[in-house]
Parts: sequence; C-alpha cells; structure tokens
Amino acid sequence: MSIRDFILVSMLLVPASALAGDPHSYANTDAVRVRAAALDLKVDFSDRRLTGNVRLDLDWKKPDQHSLVLDTRDLDIERVVAIDAAGKEKAARFRLDARDPIFGSALRIELPEAAPSVRIHYRTAPTASGLQWMTPEQTAGKKRSFMYSQSQAIHARSWVPLQDTPSVRFTYTAQIAAPKGYRVLMSADNDAAHPLNGAFRFAMKQPIPSYLLAIAVGDLAVRQTGPRTAVYAEASVVQSAAKEFEDTESMIEAAEKLYGPYRWERYDILVLPASFPFGGMENPRITFATPTVIAGDKSLVGLIAHELAHSWSGNLVTNANWQHMWLNEGFTTYVENRIVEAVYGKDEAVMQLVVDDGEVREEMAEMSDNAQLLVPDLNGVDPDEGLSGVPYNKGRWFLRFLELRYGREVFDPFLRGYFDHFAFQSIDTDQFLAYYEEHLAKPNPGKVSRAEIDAWLHKPGIPADAPVSRSPRFEAVDTARTEWLAGQRQADALGANRWVTYEWLHFLNGLPATVPVDQLQALDRAWKLTGTGNAEVAFRWYALTIRSGYVQARPAIAGFVERIGRRKLVLPLYEALAKTADGKAFARQVYAKAKPGYHPLTQGSVERVLAD
Ligand code: BES
Ligand code: ZN
Repeated sequence: MSIRDFILVSMLLVPASALAGDPHSYANTDAVRVRAAALDLKVDFSDRRLTGNVRLDLDWKKPDQHSLVLDTRDLDIERVVAIDAAGKEKAARFRLDARDPIFGSALRIELPEAAPSVRIHYRTAPTASGLQWMTPEQTAGKKRSFMYSQSQAIHARSWVPLQDTPSVRFTYTAQIAAPKGYRVLMSADNDAAHPLNGAFRFAMKQPIPSYLLAIAVGDLAVRQTGPRTAVYAEASVVQSAAKEFEDTESMIEAAEKLYGPYRWERYDILVLPASFPFGGMENPRITFATPTVIAGDKSLVGLIAHELAHSWSGNLVTNANWQHMWLNEGFTTYVENRIVEAVYGKDEAVMQLVVDDGEVREEMAEMSDNAQLLVPDLNGVDPDEGLSGVPYNKGRWFLRFLELRYGREVFDPFLRGYFDHFAFQSIDTDQFLAYYEEHLAKPNPGKVSRAEIDAWLHKPGIPADAPVSRSPRFEAVDTARTEWLAGQRQADALGANRWVTYEWLHFLNGLPATVPVDQLQALDRAWKLTGTGNAEVAFRWYALTIRSGYVQARPAIAGFVERIGRRKLVLPLYEALAKTADGKAFARQVYAKAKPGYHPLTQGSVERVLAD
C-alpha cells in the first residue's frame, strides 16, 4: 500500500461525526472549516438537476491534516480538484461513503497540506431532498416550471456538498444559469430590476450557516412594499401578497427598537406555491412563505413577524446544532410576539400566547420525556421527524417567564445585549446560560433561582410556576362555547361575527375531542366553516369533523389537502383520517391525487402515516 493509500484508508476509518459535536453532520470541523463558497450552477428543468461546481475556501485549524469531510446526499460527484495559493488546480482523490437514509453520504477528500481551496464538480439528483421541482401545471400561472430549495435542517447537502452543520458560517457568491424569462432568487443580494436574461450573479457578504442557503427559480413578479421590503410571487398572487404584507416595514422598525439594527439590508418575502412544506423559512434577506398566510385580513401575518424575528435569533445568533434549536425557535417565537404586540397591540399578542400555551401543553402530554426537553438528545434522530412545538413554545414560555420576573426594563436590554454579543456566531445552551448568569442573574440577584432555570432547561413538561397568560376576549368565547355545547345557545348566537382568527382557534381548541354531528352541522350552517379561506381555522375544523364523523366535510377536506402541501396543516388531517379503516381508504385516495404536488418532505411524512 502506498503512503497516499494508507492516509486515505486510515481517514476513511475515522468516524467523523464523533469529532464534530454535531450529531447530524459528518464534517471534520475541528480540523478544517469552510470560510467561503462560490457556486456555479446551471438549472435544468428538463432533467430536474442542478449541474456545475462549487469552490470552497478553507480555514485549516489543524494544518497537518489532509482530509476534508463534507456532507452530501444523493449527489453525483464528478471530480474534485485542490486549488493552491496561486490558483492552480490539481485533481484530488475522494471517496463517497455508503448512503445513510438520514444523514446521506460523507464525501472524504484527500488534499495537499493546508490546501486553501477545493472545487467539487457535481450534479444533484432529480429526487434531491432539499429541492422541489414543479411542472408548469403545478404553478398558478401554468406557463413556466418552478424550483425552490428548503435547506433546513439538513437538506443543503442534497444540492451543495458542504459542511452541513449550523456551527460553521461562510459567505457565498453564486453564478446561476437558468432558462431565459425566469427569475432566480437567492438568500443574497437580490435585485428586483435584474433582467430575466438567464444569467444571475449573487453575493452574500454576511457569513451564514448552510441551512440558510436558498434558491428559487420561476415566473416571479415583484412589488415593492417599502424602502427595504418587497414581495416576489407569481403574477396572480403578488397584489394580494403586497397588501397582506404591507406592515412589514413597521415590523422591522418595531424589532429594531427592541433589539438593535436590522443587519441584512433588505427584507423581501417570496410567496411560494401552496406546496411549500412549511409556513415560512427565514432565508436571509428573503423569507420564503406559504401562500396560506394570505388570509385577506392580515390575521396570520404573525408568521412574517416570526421569520423576520429570525434575523436576530437564528440568522444572527445561531444554534450550534439542532439539539439547541430552542435558541433559534424559542427566542424567535418570543420576539415574534413582541413584534405583534408593538404593531397590532396587546390583545392580539396575548391571544396568541394563550393559544400557543394551550397547544404545546396538549402536545407534550403525548410526548416522550426526551422530546419534551428544551435540549433533547437527537443522536440518530432525523431532525425533520423531531419537529414539535417544544422548542418554539416551551422556549418562548421560558423567556416570557424571565421577562416577567426581571421586568421589561431589565430583560429587553439584556436580550439586545445578547444578540450583539453573539452576533454572527453559533452557540449552544451552555453559552446562553453563562451569558445569562453574568448579565442577568448576577446583576439582579434574588429574582430567579438556579433550580427554576434548571427545571425549564433540563426537565420535561412545563414548570408548575410558569406564568399563565389570560385574554379577556377569550372569556366571552369560553362562555359562548360552554353554553352552545350545553344546548343553551344557538350556533348563530355565538357572537362570532366579531371574532378574529385567534378567537376561532381558541373556540375550536376548547371543544371536546368529538362533537355530535347535528351540532357540527348547525355550527357549519351558521358560520360556513367548511370551505373557509383561513387555513389555520380550516385545519382545526377539519380535524374535528373527521374525529366526529361529520363526513359532509370530506369533499372540502380533499380539496384542502390537494391544494396545500404545508406539512403542519395537512399531516394532522391524514393522521385523523387514518384512525378508521374507512377514513384511511379515503385518505389514500386523496393522497394519490395530492402526491405529485407535494414536496418530498411532505410526501415522506404522509406516507409514513398511511403505511400499514
Ligand atoms: N425555521 C422554521 C422552519 C423550519 C423548522 C424548517 C425546522 C425546517 C426545520 C421557520 O422559522 C418556522 O418556524 N416556521 C413555522 C412558522 C412559524 C410562525 C411557527 C412554520 O413553518 O410553520
Ligand atoms: Zn422559526
């Protein structure tokens, strides 16, 4: 065996994930870190592939080491070259490990000592888990194909070979070739006036983690909504989107007042086709959003406040790995609520707290102890499967607890200082805790005990002394619900003509698991719930009709899950249907029609529910 072979073979034997401290990445980040990426890709709709190369610039922490281990999933690696300080390229040896169904394949590259850069020539698979390719018929305009990425949590590796861990940040540039007439957008410096000439260039000069790499290509119109905000969407949606999201600039100003300047220059919103598997994704400078937040009355724009809030919590201060996701999502849910309060008032903000508190409590009742922890053990766990309301709403509840104990005059500047201190860094819960001790607990002794902090951070459930939020408006809803259930009030006398979305959510959440069919029918007749355009009301109502055997709603349910691919909205409906044999047969029929329009992620989740 030659010495080169010996080095190659021995590096193949090192379990890279054991070195990195991120249970979801193979990258050997203790030895080497990607500092910058330069993408050069061609978008090919006919064979559903991105083809080209990426150059990665490297910072060697251990310059005597020769191996670079990257994350990939279903990539065809054509060749790899090392680039020296003079820019000279030389073929490098590499090997692609066997595919792990959750983590993909480690790409092990052997490089000359401290090689400054490496270039990987590759193409993506048509089934790349981080990309959705759509035919023209699947879009609203029906004229052009559409493609978009969803990289969080570990899908960036399915379209770029890289260190796919949020503990590494890098800047990037990109050169993207697309068919003429298409617009290309990335999580970078988009230019609304860019000619649709098939040749797009981007630069992202703030360092970001891999899960914030994003691209979308399609027939996209644009409308400015403020000095640094715009919406991109298909032509038939862009007008209503611009109206729905017209308060975005006010939201940015509210967040800046609390937590310091917005550091990403522009904040645009891309409204995707309804198959987008999430509500929103905080891609830097351009949030990707589901069209289901366009309710027509701004009642669901808390979602925009949420994605905007990630510009501080998540994109600026980033969880070091997905076990610490509450640092992203809990802080963001807290900041979201503060933005909603500032822009839409206390009533609205408190209603959201009450609904979210109730829902996370109910959700936790069915969860394992580990899954209820703010910092769960996710070793061997697919982060897509581990998703729950815990990092969001238990995390937010903990911060609200701190806010109430210390008072806003102390807590608000603390949080602002935290964002400044850790800006553009990736941190874990211990680092948060050390900062908390030093800057909040120590200067304000006697307010919160260490045992209380421990209970929030390291015990399942919600601590018994958690603050309880109350909404006076919900008291009237509770009374109406109780009287209606007892037959003391007619459905049309609920007073719901004055209800906003959250009052409906509270009403529906407070009903028993099943309600007699004739009562549901009366409610439906009075308030036209079946077929409602409000997706959050719809999915709770439809779940209730399924549990209760109110089969008249089935055609509308079929229409809903065929039109919408947002996992959070459709999955509970498939789950509820799958509980009876007849429901499951119906669900399978509906899914067969819906499947081609779903993102791979939604497909995977639904198929697990409908399997025998
Ligand atoms: N970053 C998340 C979306 C995400 C989480 C993608 C985990 C992949 C893995 C985003 O900010 C989010 O939380 N979206 C929510 C909406 C929000 C209002 C709770 C969603 O998509 O439902
Ligand atoms: Zn979020």
